[in-house]
Amino acid sequence: MPRTFLITGSASGIGAATSAYLRERGVRVIGADRRDADITADLATGAGRAALVDRARDLAGDKLDGVIACAGVALFDPVTIRVNHFGAVAVLEGLRPLLARGTDPRAVVVSSVASVHQADPDIVDAALAGDEDAAVTAAGAAVERGAGAQVYSSSKVAIARWVRRTAITPEWAGAGIPLNAIAPGTVVTPMTRGMLDSEAGRQLVDGSVPMPLHGHARPEQVAPLLAWLSSPENSHVTGQVVFVDGGAEAVLRGDRTW
Ligand code: NAI
Repeated sequence: MPRTFLITGSASGIGAATSAYLRERGVRVIGADRRDADITADLATGAGRAALVDRARDLAGDKLDGVIACAGVALFDPVTIRVNHFGAVAVLEGLRPLLARGTDPRAVVVSSVASVHQADPDIVDAALAGDEDAAVTAAGAAVERGAGAQVYSSSKVAIARWVRRTAITPEWAGAGIPLNAIAPGTVVTPMTRGMLDSEAGRQLVDGSVPMPLHGHARPEQVAPLLAWLSSPENSHVTGQVVFVDGGAEAVLRGDRTW
């Protein structure tokens, strides 16, 4: 029986590469994105999130074996917290009942090495309290004061913490569903290409995400980690944020993690 997965952000970058990687290995992938996908839905809105879950239920046939939440934006705009945190949480919570009926069910979310960058506690706390209006207001204030990049880092802190808190609950660990995040360093996709095209942009990116091992990654180099974390082989890894970042997190945090 082939495994059936839902992957958000399937039209581009890491989501597209992961969809292709899994399809090549016999997984049936239901892609969800704003465009060019089996399910077209906008994860910035409540209506879009609900439509995605409804449509997934129709297409999946009442059970899913894997959910990979890749969709995201890196805009200096409150929409970034809407999509990256609230969109991902809605997909995972909405599809959890289908996963609970799956075979060796697994879920993975894409956070970022930006989760170790400076974040805004007001955005993070509101997101973790599930208060989207307050998170959007705090994000708007961050943009106003010229700290737009913190909307992105805060969205990636919030989703990482949500994963750690949620993974160990009866609904996930208790139901036998590993739930993890990955934290990529700089991956060459449409999200980053504009910055990486200029020398000044590249220096800015590499200054905040130093990657001593192999430099920038291609999305195809991230896909196998997502595939393994969502495979039956992963029996005991849960609640983790796995950095796939050429050493960036080790450079930035050094000994502080332990
Ligand atoms: P990408 O821009 O190539 O792909 C993102 C996909 O998400 C696109 O297909 C886009 O249409 C979709 N998406 C955006 N907003 C959406 C919405 N409102 N509703 C539905 N779909 C939406 O970017 P990439 O690089 O593949 O990013 C994938 C994930 O990886 C994102 O969560 C990003 O934050 C994260 N990430 C990317 C890194 C990079 O260097 N490219 C580094 C670390 C994390």
